[in-house]
Amino acid sequence: MSDQKNNDSNHLGMNDEEMVELHAKLNKEKHPPTQGFLIAPLIFVFVFGCLIFVCSIQLAHSTNGFQVHPPQEVVELSDEEKEVLRLERKIDSGKKLYAVNCASCHQPSGLGLGEQYPPLAGSEWVSANPELIIKVILKGLVGEIKVKGKTYNPVGGMAAVTNLKSDREIANVTTYVRQAWGNEAPEVSVEEVAQARAESAEQKDQWVGDALQSLYLNNSSE
Ligand code: HEC
Repeated sequence: MSDQKNNDSNHLGMNDEEMVELHAKLNKEKHPPTQGFLIAPLIFVFVFGCLIFVCSIQLAHSTNGFQVHPPQEVVELSDEEKEVLRLERKIDSGKKLYAVNCASCHQPSGLGLGEQYPPLAGSEWVSANPELIIKVILKGLVGEIKVKGKTYNPVGGMAAVTNLKSDREIANVTTYVRQAWGNEAPEVSVEEVAQARAESAEQKDQWVGDALQSLYLNNSSE
């Protein structure tokens, strides 16, 4: 009891030195020494720093200097690859034009239909001098013709395909037809179409089957 009293009086009567010492002691209990632990976060900071650094370099590299819409990696195509790509596009376009302008009669399969519409697949008309197919499209065709040994002479023949306005469209569709369904004729150029168009600028009538046949197809009499 007297001890307690003594303590109390000690507490109250603490001098500065004792007070500081007590606070230091309390502080130590509250905040245990961190010396040993201080190194761990530093290592984390360092590792993450390195990681962010490396990632940034990678990101800057792959986005071409942090552009939001980095340009597609420019792949240098060889001339040969460019050529293949150009022809692919031309034929793609030709295929669409064919579907709209020709397939209703000659069919998507290129096999034609009955006695009325002759086939384009395997047709000697298609694979001959490209002037022939260009002329047929530009002016139409009438009269008896022979395709793959079979005779066709539908009433009215084929009207000019006036929906195909540009030389490029005709070059595309004829190139497609000449290379589809196993046909293997060379592509048709815009210049060839332009020339055929110029030559027949004055012509109003459809081509007559006989005339074209004897001009372009040697085997017409077979
Ligand atoms: C409205 C129907 C019709 C459309 C559309 C049509 N043709 Fe024809 N085509 C014919 C007919 C009919 C003949 C046969 C004409 C004849 O006997 O004189 C023919 C003949 C041909 C021939 C020569 C014969 C052969 O089979 O090789 C070619 C080539 C040809 N067409 C290509 C085309 C192309 C390419 C298109 C589209 C750009 C097209 N035609 C659109 C009806 C059509």
